[in-house]
Amino acid sequence: MQSFQLNERAATVPPVLSYDRKGWQKGYNSLKEEHSYWIDDIEGTIPPDLHGTLFRNGPGMLDVNGQSLQHPFDGDGMICAIAFDNGRAHFRNRFVRTEGYVAEQAAGRILYRGVFGTQKPGGWLANALDFRLKNIANTNILYWGGKLLALWEAAEPHRLDPETLETLGLDRLDGVLQPGEAFAAHPWIDPACNQDEGAPCLVNFSIKPGLSSTITLFEFDPDGKLLRKHAHATPGFAFIHDFAITENYAIFFQNPVSFNPLPFLFGKRGAGECITFDPEKPTQIVVIPRKAKGLGIKDKSSDLALSPEPLAFEIHAGFVFHHANAFEQGDEVVIDSVCYGSLPAVEANADFRETDFETLAPGQLWRFRLNLTTQTVERELLERRCCEFPYVHPAKAGRSHRYIFMGAAHAPEGNAPLQAIIKIDVESGDRQLWSAAPQGYVSEPIFVPRSPAAFKNGFPTTDMAGAEDDGWLLTLVYDAAHERSDVVILDARDLNREPVARLHLKHHVPYGLHGSFTPQVFGE
Ligand code: CO
Repeated sequence: MQSFQLNERAATVPPVLSYDRKGWQKGYNSLKEEHSYWIDDIEGTIPPDLHGTLFRNGPGMLDVNGQSLQHPFDGDGMICAIAFDNGRAHFRNRFVRTEGYVAEQAAGRILYRGVFGTQKPGGWLANALDFRLKNIANTNILYWGGKLLALWEAAEPHRLDPETLETLGLDRLDGVLQPGEAFAAHPWIDPACNQDEGAPCLVNFSIKPGLSSTITLFEFDPDGKLLRKHAHATPGFAFIHDFAITENYAIFFQNPVSFNPLPFLFGKRGAGECITFDPEKPTQIVVIPRKAKGLGIKDKSSDLALSPEPLAFEIHAGFVFHHANAFEQGDEVVIDSVCYGSLPAVEANADFRETDFETLAPGQLWRFRLNLTTQTVERELLERRCCEFPYVHPAKAGRSHRYIFMGAAHAPEGNAPLQAIIKIDVESGDRQLWSAAPQGYVSEPIFVPRSPAAFKNGFPTTDMAGAEDDGWLLTLVYDAAHERSDVVILDARDLNREPVARLHLKHHVPYGLHGSFTPQVFGE
């Protein structure tokens, strides 16, 4: 009887949470104002040798004139630029003036239906289905070839002025992209490409989904000139957000999903709401050689060179949005990825602010080993704590890494908002955690190496000139207690220390997606 009572009591006591839901929700309020100022409210000291610009992208507008969006991924892209120079920091934010943003702000109401359920035709499948698409430019931001580009995976980038963040218009990469052609939001910089005598190159992809999907791989030189472009067919419908590279391969995880377009075609649901996750189906892993051997074979529909024989692997891996990194080791390609055991469907009319974290599967970090000789794949769990937004030293892109930095939950078990930054040493198994709980909510941590040799002419090099963790982690932290955001600078060597500096902004920045760091100082 005694134990029965104890059990009953335990079941009725709510779990102790590291966060407060009302506080978390406020980080999804729109930031409608555009600012430009020197940050003067600072705890600690900005390292004088931290020199360059942190660009971040994410949905800045979560409502149109009070009419709430149904999903944050439908929010208009807003860029933040934080320039660090001689121990000072300058902040600027501006919305990307996409065609949809300009039209909706002028009309004062929602004119487009978002991919994730926010009204009207549109969506990332709109190319294939020939529906109107709102390119919201909200996922990542990259400085490459002298251009600052806001990326959204279903259409072409928007080019911005890196000094003022003024929108210059759609950018088709000097004719590489056709009007409306997709260009993913997850490029990699290979710091020393073995096809280009060790020069850095930019590697990115696009997906054309359908009954059979097409993966196109792009590589660009430091001036932004196209070096290589080749396309590959993969069976089935492909939902692929991110990829990874090694020195010789590009690796794609084709998630186990199915797509039923009928509710979308009939205007009842957004395209994203028609994708269903099938936990019984395996993930297809596609490994494409970056060196296209079959150049000259033409795909009639796209006039692209087709490279033969990508390798395919199959494993039950759940759902993957993001990869930390990949590298080659003997006969194997090793890839570290954040996997979800299940992915709930985006429900019609459900408010994302009411997400019940405790009922959802957490993202966890796994290591996959693909044996290219035996064509087998194995996986092991690297980190069970709920985590997302992995990042490695830029010199380690496509190369064997020791450290992974990620956003993580405060608690070691269960699913919760990201309130901490975790550092994982994959060699020793050591962990370090810096937590902003209970009132702080973190974003993707961006690692900036301390050594000036880490960059040459503005591009990453493979020159470590120091330990792999010798640098800073830059992350935006929403502080629900003060309803503002901080730029937090952590010493990546030791996350147990207090932050090197906390830069208090004059306002909040809604939860963002991805960003990048360039050693050039822009926008002071
Ligand atoms: Co992403």
